[in-house]
Amino acid sequence: MVNVSSIVLGKGGPRVPVVGLGLWQAGFKMWGPRDEDALREVREAISLAVEYGLTLFDTAEVYGHGFSESLLGEVAGNRDDVVVISKVAGYRVTRRGVVKAVEGMRRRLRRDAVDVVLHHWPPSVHSSVCSVVRALEEAVERGLAKYIGVSNYPEDLLERAVECVKRHEILVDQVQYSLAYRVVERGLKPLAERLGVTIMAWSPLAKGALAGKTVADNKARKNDPVFEAASTDEELLDVLRRVADRLGASMAQVAVAWLIAKSAVPVVGFRKKRHVEEAVAAAKLQLPSWAVRELDRASEKYVSRWGGKYGAVQNLRWVPSPIQMLVLRLMGGV
Ligand SMILES: NC(=O)c1ccc[n+]([C@@H]2O[C@H](COP(=O)([O-])OP(=O)(O)OC[C@H]3O[C@@H](n4cnc5c(N)ncnc54)[C@H](OP(=O)(O)O)[C@@H]3O)[C@@H](O)[C@H]2O)c1
Repeated sequence: MVNVSSIVLGKGGPRVPVVGLGLWQAGFKMWGPRDEDALREVREAISLAVEYGLTLFDTAEVYGHGFSESLLGEVAGNRDDVVVISKVAGYRVTRRGVVKAVEGMRRRLRRDAVDVVLHHWPPSVHSSVCSVVRALEEAVERGLAKYIGVSNYPEDLLERAVECVKRHEILVDQVQYSLAYRVVERGLKPLAERLGVTIMAWSPLAKGALAGKTVADNKARKNDPVFEAASTDEELLDVLRRVADRLGASMAQVAVAWLIAKSAVPVVGFRKKRHVEEAVAAAKLQLPSWAVRELDRASEKYVSRWGGKYGAVQNLRWVPSPIQMLVLRLMGGV
């Protein structure tokens, strides 16, 4: 067991490792073919993470249409030392829909209660944020989940969610945040800090670009303009490479450690044992202030490059929930 630093989620949530591991990749739909060898590697990677003490996992009902939750449940579902975050789809906007979804999650994850349930993306403009977060609260009251939070909620909706909860705290807002996507720093992050909500950073490696990957070899990368921008940004990659060399670390470790230095909890996507080993090393790497300064400077353009306010996944808000649900069902998840 390796000792990994930890942090409390929100004001009074569970204590978790400073780096989480994301299982979108383990759902496979957009990340490549699912064969026995690949599955064995994911299972071994999950076990290795637990052995190392990297016990915070992030998944969602839409990842492989429940497949990634089932895989995690099969390998680590019954463990008390593991903290599982899972996300109900953003098209779930009714009390019944949310509660039923959390029940399904709990079964797939093989846990008595999901540790933290998030609403994956904001409800469509036709629905109310208050109804959604109160439905999440109800899942806690029924013993199906322990804590609640949101994902991809911009400033105004996060504020609304925090105002609406009656008995349970919004622990986290899980948002896109990396050296190549810093728009959250413009308003959302300071607001979350004021509200005592932890920022969890998805795509901390810009889908591998910040680890040095240059080829968009799957649908997830092909559809991502941030991967495209980061993988061709020689100036940023050069600084990242130089900082990593000076510290005797890898680019991926430095990119993840930079987020820890910004008080965010990065969720690194993984499907291989070496991804887990690197995530453990990143969790132990404390960046010196010169390194943070150099990386800040080299990535400054990404504070404003992607718009004035946090907006990832916001286009979905204009699509009515039943249509969102139908499309995702037909796709069999992402
Ligand atoms: N809330 C949301 O809306 C949302 C959205 C997206 C993601 N997420 C969560 O955030 C997690 C991570 O985000 P992400 O999937 O966008 O990607 P990411 O963490 O930025 O990149 C993950 C990919 O980078 C590569 N990688 C990981 N560690 C590496 C290392 N040490 N060296 C070299 N390459 C490495 C792997 O690619 P290969 O597998 O190809 O080797 C891995 O699949 C997801 O799994 C999911 O849990 C949440």
